[in-house]
Amino acid sequence: MKWFKVFESKESALNTIPDKGVKLLLLGQRRIALARFDDKIFATADACPHNGESLSKGSINYLGEIICPWHNYRFNIKSGTECQNRTQDLQTFPIECRADGLFIGIPE
Ligand code: FES
Repeated sequence: MKWFKVFESKESALNTIPDKGVKLLLLGQRRIALARFDDKIFATADACPHNGESLSKGSINYLGEIICPWHNYRFNIKSGTECQNRTQDLQTFPIECRADGLFIGIPE
């Protein structure tokens, strides 16, 4: 696992991503969807497992599911599981809040 610092602090992340918002993060060749729910930050692959739409164009509902803007499939933002098992799981990435910033772990 390789860790990337993406914000100076959790507060900085919360100030950048609105509540139930999703932002695109480019890490080298990887496209990551950064989402905020319940004042926590989550990271998933940006490409929807169904047909590749960008999930950073989607939204988060009150259940903490990221909703794809194309066919409205819903993925649990923590586990990546699609709510009706209509497609494979969305890849999720761990987030760590450390004294020197907020980090995302990417498998090598
Ligand atoms: S591409 Fe995301 S639900 Fe179809």
